[in-house]
Amino acid sequence: MYFSTALSFVVALGGLATAVPTPAGLGAPGGAPGGAPGSPAPYSIPTDDGFPTPSPDQLLVIQQIADGTLSNAPPPAKLNESSFPVFQLIAFNENFEVAFFSSLLHNITTGVKGFDDFPNKKKKMELVDILQTVLAQEKLHAINAIKTLTNFKAFAPAPCKYQFPTTTTYEAIALAERFTDLVISTLQDAAQTVARNGDVGPVRGITSSMGQEGQQEGFYRIVLSKKPSEKPFLTTNVAAFLFSNLQQYIVPGSCPFDLKEIKLPIFPALQVLSGKGGVDVPAKDQKLSFRADLSKSAAADAYVGKAEGLYVTYFSGQLLPISVPIENVKWNGRVASFDAAFPFIKNEMVGLSIASLTTKNSFAAPGEVVGATLAAPGLIQVDDRVKSWDGF
Ligand SMILES: *[C@@H]1O[C@H](CO)[C@@H](O)[C@H](O)[C@H]1NC(C)=O
Ligand SMILES: *[C@@H]1O[C@H](CO)[C@@H](O)[C@H](O)[C@H]1NC(C)=O
Repeated sequence: MYFSTALSFVVALGGLATAVPTPAGLGAPGGAPGGAPGSPAPYSIPTDDGFPTPSPDQLLVIQQIADGTLSNAPPPAKLNESSFPVFQLIAFNENFEVAFFSSLLHNITTGVKGFDDFPNKKKKMELVDILQTVLAQEKLHAINAIKTLTNFKAFAPAPCKYQFPTTTTYEAIALAERFTDLVISTLQDAAQTVARNGDVGPVRGITSSMGQEGQQEGFYRIVLSKKPSEKPFLTTNVAAFLFSNLQQYIVPGSCPFDLKEIKLPIFPALQVLSGKGGVDVPAKDQKLSFRADLSKSAAADAYVGKAEGLYVTYFSGQLLPISVPIENVKWNGRVASFDAAFPFIKNEMVGLSIASLTTKNSFAAPGEVVGATLAAPGLIQVDDRVKSWDGF
């Protein structure tokens, strides 16, 4: 199996001198909204270790597994209300990640079909060991954000019920690579937002966790035979696009709170139809195909049925937003299908690009894109895969 071969690099650096095969059959995890085909049972985070409100003893155990503790610094004296959504989004996202890695570990350790495909016991133990630590680390990220919010009597999101589109270990690692990349992109926005709001205190902790997610990302990328360091400056994102993207993993109506408690817009998804749902886009200038269902978007009223005045805007690296006009637009009611140029060469768009359907084509900063967005995000990945592993 491809997965087993690539994974063996992690333990047996010397053992793999041959070319890494191209992954086959990987679907489009995370590309489209809605549940997986066949709608898996809603997943709830197990509560045996007290998460998200562990007792002091339970917290000690989580910290041991996580290889580190929460900060013992006193909380900041104040937190601007404009910073609340930042920590609410971090908690909302980390709750999802805790659910995902709990489910993945459960599947691997209990040998669920699709998650039982390891060449030997050692390979399986290695991945379980790594994921157990990741899971405990994500729990501490969530608890840290929740503590920040509750300290200022702000709303702190409790876990929802979740649905995942993945049915094999390989697909799950590929999805983890994709959502972790998006989180690293968005934590840049978190740091920028709290700094702008006058809350410099949490910047150190946010950037600490950003690097931590980057370490995870490097591991997932190696398993997938992608070069661990993706770009010189990782692609940026905005909070609303992460919040929108996470909706596909939430069982509708299952959160024990109104999603409007988190003051961030939820945009309709921008589906990327090219390159297996945006996962495997080739490294060249090309037209990409997109689809957006604007049935629930009042902001789209003035554009439905028209071909003018709409753009695809890309975030790539630390470049200013790149906008191109949409082409070949077809409307089916309020569902738009269209193409747009992907200006790869000029912008070196290797790695993650984040697309949005916008009503403007000129932006001085990423944050400005949100106000002109009708649908987002569309995730596009162009990967620089390693050609072979060299023996050490
Ligand atoms: C765990 O297995 C179930 C059943 O196949 C599947 O629906 C779910 O997506 C899997 N979890 C992950 C994180 O892949
Ligand atoms: C709170 O954040 C808003 C929005 O960034 C800003 O205008 C305001 O000055 C901040 N308040 C303080 C006390 O820094």
